[in-house]
Amino acid sequence: MQRGKGMKFVGDSRIKQGPTASRIPKDYSEYPGRTEAFWPNFLLKEWLAGAVFLIGFLILTLAQPSPLGGLADPTNASFIPLPDWYFLFLYELLKYEFASGNYIILGMLGLPGIAFGALFLAPFLDNGPGRRPQQRPIAVGMMLLALVSVIWLTYSSAAPVDWEGRAEMDPPVPPSDVQVEIDTEHPGYAVYETSCLACHGAELEGTAAPTLVGIDYSAEEIADISVNGIGTMPPDQFTGSDEELEQLVDFILSVNESVEE
Ligand code: HEC
Repeated sequence: MQRGKGMKFVGDSRIKQGPTASRIPKDYSEYPGRTEAFWPNFLLKEWLAGAVFLIGFLILTLAQPSPLGGLADPTNASFIPLPDWYFLFLYELLKYEFASGNYIILGMLGLPGIAFGALFLAPFLDNGPGRRPQQRPIAVGMMLLALVSVIWLTYSSAAPVDWEGRAEMDPPVPPSDVQVEIDTEHPGYAVYETSCLACHGAELEGTAAPTLVGIDYSAEEIADISVNGIGTMPPDQFTGSDEELEQLVDFILSVNESVEE
């Protein structure tokens, strides 16, 4: 039998000849500098710009941690909590009659929902090729309306507030770099846990009451405060044996000794 005889070479119709049209990027040379392929050129640029901002914000938040306000004080009825500045406009909206009381759902869900829902219309509004603001009157008008209302509402919410008075009433908690070691095996820890932790915190950092780290009291004074209270701290927080009291005081002092600043 001769080689290759009886064998037929056939083309495979599933494999297209040459590169397919869809894989060749469109030729945009007709519009130099005006437009480009979405993938990958445009998207890559978008991602790069996005990454620059994202990393920038990350660095900023690490370098400038946002300050904490003061400890919440449930007994201070004159302090009115306010949302952060970027939500003041929504807060102000709820003061209008048509957005409060019986119409509160309108103020909470209806109006903000319409405003944000309108963003879905953006691709369908003025979607001609023109980029000038005059060529997109509806989109630009809606944008301006939103901008003006947000600025106006924020302004009318913030202007009457006595910001300095608020800051005085609500002094920020200084960021603490203090590292404490809590020895939960210490016999005094159990006493602390039952008698003091609720107000002074799991790490003596102070929650409803001031911190017990870095205090300047002698063992006798701490024992006295535990039994008799001090200032606004009610008496009889500790009601146990003398030995337990000693362990408790020893525990608090040992935590204070472990402090490295
Ligand atoms: C009901 C909450 C509460 C409990 C429980 C409590 N404390 Fe206090 N403690 C306070 C408050 C409030 C203050 C601040 C008093 C002031 O300065 O007017 C305070 C202050 C102190 C101070 C003085 C701190 C300073 O910097 O002047 C010490 C010490 C202290 N507490 C120890 C203890 C110990 C020990 C226990 C557990 C036996 C305990 N406290 C349980 C509320 C509490």
